[in-house]
Amino acid sequence: RHSSDSESEPEEEPSSSEEEKEEPKQETGKSSASDLNTAEKPEEGVKKVVANQQPAGPSVPVCQAASNKPPRKPAVFIPVDRSPEIQEARLKLPILAEEQIIMEAVSENPIVIICGETGSGKTTQVPQFLYEAGYASSNGAIGITEPRRVAAVSMSQRVAKEMNLSDREVSYQIRYEGNVTDETQIKFMTDGVLLKEIQKDFLLSKYKVVIIDEAHERSMYTDILIGLLSRIVPLREKKGLPLKLIVMSATLRVEDFTDNNRLFSVTPPVIQVDARQFPVTVHFNKKTPLDDYSGECFRKVCKIHRMLPPGGILVFLTGQAEVHSLCRRLRKAFPFQKNNAAGNALPKIDLDNYSVVPVDEGDEDRDTETDDDIAGSDIDLDLGDGDSEEDEKSDSSLPLYVLPLYSLLAPEKQAKVFRAPPPGTRLCVVATNVAETSLTIPGIKYVVDCGKVKKRFYDKITGVSSFRVTWISQASANQRAGRAGRTEPGHCYRLYSSAVFMDFEKFSAPEITKRPVEDLILQMKALNIEKVINFPFPTPPPTEALAAAEELLIALGALKEPPMMGRLTQQLAAKLSCPISPLGRIMATFPVAPRYAKMLALSRQHDCLPYTITIVSAMTVRELFEEFDRPAVSEEETAKLKGKKARLLQMQRIWAGQGPMQMLGDLMVMLGAVGACEYAGCTRKFCEENGLRYKAMLEIRRLRGQLTTAVNSVCTDAGLYIDPKMKPPTEAQATYLRQIVLAGLGDHVARRVQAEELLDDKWKNAYKTALLDDPVFIHPSSVLFKQLPEFVVYQEIVETTKLYMKGVSAVEPEWIPALLPPYCHFGKPLENPPPSYCPETGRIRCHRPSVFYRVSWQLPAVEVD
Ligand code: CDP
Ligand code: MG
Repeated sequence: RHSSDSESEPEEEPSSSEEEKEEPKQETGKSSASDLNTAEKPEEGVKKVVANQQPAGPSVPVCQAASNKPPRKPAVFIPVDRSPEIQEARLKLPILAEEQIIMEAVSENPIVIICGETGSGKTTQVPQFLYEAGYASSNGAIGITEPRRVAAVSMSQRVAKEMNLSDREVSYQIRYEGNVTDETQIKFMTDGVLLKEIQKDFLLSKYKVVIIDEAHERSMYTDILIGLLSRIVPLREKKGLPLKLIVMSATLRVEDFTDNNRLFSVTPPVIQVDARQFPVTVHFNKKTPLDDYSGECFRKVCKIHRMLPPGGILVFLTGQAEVHSLCRRLRKAFPFQKNNAAGNALPKIDLDNYSVVPVDEGDEDRDTETDDDIAGSDIDLDLGDGDSEEDEKSDSSLPLYVLPLYSLLAPEKQAKVFRAPPPGTRLCVVATNVAETSLTIPGIKYVVDCGKVKKRFYDKITGVSSFRVTWISQASANQRAGRAGRTEPGHCYRLYSSAVFMDFEKFSAPEITKRPVEDLILQMKALNIEKVINFPFPTPPPTEALAAAEELLIALGALKEPPMMGRLTQQLAAKLSCPISPLGRIMATFPVAPRYAKMLALSRQHDCLPYTITIVSAMTVRELFEEFDRPAVSEEETAKLKGKKARLLQMQRIWAGQGPMQMLGDLMVMLGAVGACEYAGCTRKFCEENGLRYKAMLEIRRLRGQLTTAVNSVCTDAGLYIDPKMKPPTEAQATYLRQIVLAGLGDHVARRVQAEELLDDKWKNAYKTALLDDPVFIHPSSVLFKQLPEFVVYQEIVETTKLYMKGVSAVEPEWIPALLPPYCHFGKPLENPPPSYCPETGRIRCHRPSVFYRVSWQLPAVEVD
């Protein structure tokens, strides 16, 4: 066994400790197996630590008791050559005090839970403890999963730096990129990456330790990994190749992991790391919350900067665009001056991104609060509510060093927040939720919390997701506030009232309970977990969600249809354990949702892959076109918007192509727009002139590149090369693409209501869908709005004044039975289609009304393998 504790305390060691020194590897197996069997014995070190998990329990004495033991000399110690500054900084981290307890618990238990405040050093230090104790070696790496890409990248860089190792040894792997080598000993990755690795090697044999970090975030993949690892750990034990599992979490709700007898047969020890947390004074806004929280953030930052003593400011906003716009505004308010007013030499920074902003002395537009108000230390730190008349220009004796921080920011730019700001400046980080628990920014004294977060929401009926901004939970608000008290007492300015805070949810629900789970179920089936309902989820998804997912996957052909006639009821479907099909296996290897994965899987035919990749990317990015229907402030602007709209409509007609191409509808427009934009070099100018959203186009380009790489790694003989420019599809290809889209979007088929079926006026020009009882319509922005094809597939349904389909393509009825047999009834419509109860809406709805009874039996034009 590799451990740090086996020599100096023989009386507490398992009897096999002598042999361990000689045969460390084999012993690992024995001693861990015995841990598993004896973990419930009261005198085990395990139990001592377990006592810490009782909130009322004497956590401090227990820790001290353990820490008072004479220091042990580790059996294995791999020296690390850290710089003195790093070493000094490390020693200040609370987790360093618990190193011995942690390493003891890890060596004596297969599974250990570590809880500690954000910033206590879990992510950066625990991998180093393990490394020093010999858990990393050429044949077994230490793996750490993060729910966020930004954390995986930045933490691997940080740990490499602290350990003075290269990125060949401390590496990261995120969905489409990474720097892992044969020499990698510590590997940071996103949770999705580890899940894919389990598909290839269920026992994760290349790891000696797996750390699941940020478990409190309860991301869907984290939850599922914990469930899987709860089974993998005993399996590895049996094989004599024990795997250590460490679950790390901020101090939130570990009960779902510990009080869950389905998950772990023996309750794992919980080690509580007590972080030094300084008091944070919370200031609520008195007024009801404003819609313009971004503007309110701006005003608050200006006030803090002008009025309050030195200390970093951290602002929480919801998304990348907001972050950038606030950064711009702040930099404008404190404009850059070549000759710094303080007379300091200009700090060397990347001016391209952020500026060090000195005082603008010539500014006449001063705020009414003068310097006198802030001179003393006796400041009223309650800044009061936002004042909408606040000036945008500001005055301060300190330059403001403004940095953005969000997930997709390039790693080298993210790393800036961890460096000390240039001397004589005040740091101001404008961040999304990533700064809540994943990353700890040093030197923050003031937090400005807008109280909102951008979250993905799923339509319960159509399963379509969208991002929406909502209130955070109380737990999140408290986490955010805590960021201000890491190094000294701090202040948190909440841009909402305490009454609003009281209405927040206590915790946000685990992701798995809130979203459709078809991608998850497909991944699990690919792992040959057929009875998903029996899986040890930390919190199980609702049974209806499981049933709906299986049903969709059966319809897509990813799961084998159960050998049973007729339609399945929800309950039956949930209990069923349909195995994965060969098509499903291929779909599971693509890093996209099952509907899109099926499109990719079918697109090897007729050279359709580059087009499908583009369509999938464009559908993922959404909102390719500028919105010109917004209210204008002047007549001049009205005319301008009108002109731009006309230009966009004209271009859309061109992009929609001629003849059979047109039937690909809105998806052809997407292809045409991306194609034209890339031919023009994807410039901002081209986008602005033609009504395209420049940001969306850049994002599509990025996604296309990533998906091409991913497809090449799945289909090694596909040999796609990344070329943003693509030829338009041929007419035949456009027809194949319609079939591919139909096969993938499957349940998003709609049939136009025929004249003889018109129930009443509200069904005029309406379509029936497989998922809803209500009439739906083609969105007026669709190029097929006037054509009204008999059968269409749609990307999504949006509800405004009516239910509208967006992203519409026409399909031929005879394709449907060949491509989507589960959605067809042949012959006459059923008199009374069996209804099913929808718990969300409380309505009875038909899952598959007889929408498709008109289909005929012609042979399809596409091979479906
Ligand atoms: O994981 P946990 O939140 O417990 O803490 P951590 O991420 O390991 O961070 C420990 C300390 O390292 C914090 O004070 C961070 O500010 C610091 N850190 C840093 O200075 N630079 C980084 N790139 C990452 C962390
Ligand atoms: Mg962490």
